[in-house]
Amino acid sequence: MNRSFPDGFLWGGATAANQYEGGWNEGGRGPSIDDVFTGGSVNTPRRITIPAQPDAFYPNHEATDFYHHWKEDIALFAEMGFKVYRMSISWSRIFPRGDEEQPNEEGLAFYDQVFDELAKYGIEPLVTLSHYENPLYLTTQYGGWKNRKLVDFFVHYAKTVMERYKGKVRRWLTFNEINMLSVPFGTFIAGGMLPETTTEQDRWQAMHHQLVASAQAVRLGHRIDPDNQLGCMIAYMCVYPRTCAPEDQLTQLSMDRLHNLLAGDVHVRGAYPSYARRLLAEKGVTLDITPQDEVDLREGTVDFYTFSYYDSRCVGTKQEGDPSTGNGALGGIRNPYLPVTEWGWQIDPQGLRWVLNHLYDRYQIPLMVVENGLGAMDQREPDGAIHDPYRIDYLRAHIQAMAEAVADGVDLQGYTPWGCIDLVSASTGEMRKRYGMIYVDKHDDGSGDLSRHRKDSFYWYQKVIATNGQDLT
Ligand code: BG6
Repeated sequence: MNRSFPDGFLWGGATAANQYEGGWNEGGRGPSIDDVFTGGSVNTPRRITIPAQPDAFYPNHEATDFYHHWKEDIALFAEMGFKVYRMSISWSRIFPRGDEEQPNEEGLAFYDQVFDELAKYGIEPLVTLSHYENPLYLTTQYGGWKNRKLVDFFVHYAKTVMERYKGKVRRWLTFNEINMLSVPFGTFIAGGMLPETTTEQDRWQAMHHQLVASAQAVRLGHRIDPDNQLGCMIAYMCVYPRTCAPEDQLTQLSMDRLHNLLAGDVHVRGAYPSYARRLLAEKGVTLDITPQDEVDLREGTVDFYTFSYYDSRCVGTKQEGDPSTGNGALGGIRNPYLPVTEWGWQIDPQGLRWVLNHLYDRYQIPLMVVENGLGAMDQREPDGAIHDPYRIDYLRAHIQAMAEAVADGVDLQGYTPWGCIDLVSASTGEMRKRYGMIYVDKHDDGSGDLSRHRKDSFYWYQKVIATNGQDLT
């Protein structure tokens, strides 16, 4: 059977302002939570330092400096043949504190230039409104997303940018990986809440507030421009049962529901699923849901579903000697059938086919894979070349898995691999964990001239796009 992608398939790449844009204190921008988050590594967790300390290193301040390289970078995306470019707007560039009435015009003008430049090349923007980046003031003054007031601040911000960029941006995502609030990893980066004062109840309430804010933004987005398409974004942390024991199947079912499906069910179906009550009660969580919240959720269902997919893990009864996976967000047990990356994340392309089928069976709305990729250390050769066959192998296998899912009948509309240009890692704050097809000369000690260089994967992906996924050699 011929494995092919539909005509008009949206090939592209994904980045986010917090990890890529830099210019943290330029153009009237206010500080965001990432600006007080130090660099780290696998063994040294990132630290939250409020206020920022003069002797600490903050990799997101400059990141890989899209703020001053946007023209050059968009030209490189165009050279690769991108049809779509997923990016995020930095909320604190538009509202420096987050709770103002009036936006920062200089911040709005920055993204005008970016969208105009993308249009010049026929690249469609796919814009995430909130990608792991709340204005810091909303944390220090309001305590982050456990505070319901943030719903109004976010919706005001969403309204401002959707009105301003009407006609320039038609595809929007509300919150990046909203379901990360189901695990402690998301407390600060997704919820803007300080770990030491945040309970599990707070995290779930914060997620509820974001779901309501998302629904209000979706409803508003449709009113502002009926051509707008608004989607959700879920971190799909694929889980397998550790063994064929029935109790492991039930653990898998609960984990999949709680950490992957619940948030998407609310986004797509407009109400909490029936299983939520028991699973949350077992955690001692009782959500404050108002009658108006229920109306908002019902009226703000998404047009399409997007997700990130990097790896999989096993769950169930841990046996002695079972190693854990390196991806600490959800944790889980290592799967002996799968190889791992240098950071211990399990490489599982077939899991992507499984997830795509699982989601399409459930929702029957268009899907997009908006993050996927291999974080690896790259070496620049003396002649300037960067040979990254490992990245090509990873991407090829995942594209093949997507083609299989399309053949299975899944309505898959696009693919934007993560960090198409090198940027700062979210979990470890490292530069050496690179995902890009474009190398940026920037290092973990802050050194580097920020020059851009095409990796082997750049040319490979260019060919993949040119042949609509037919030539993966
Ligand atoms: C996703 C996030 O979870 O994974 C990105 O949306 C993040 O922001 C990406 O960068 C990869 O994770 P990491 O920790 O390797 O950067």
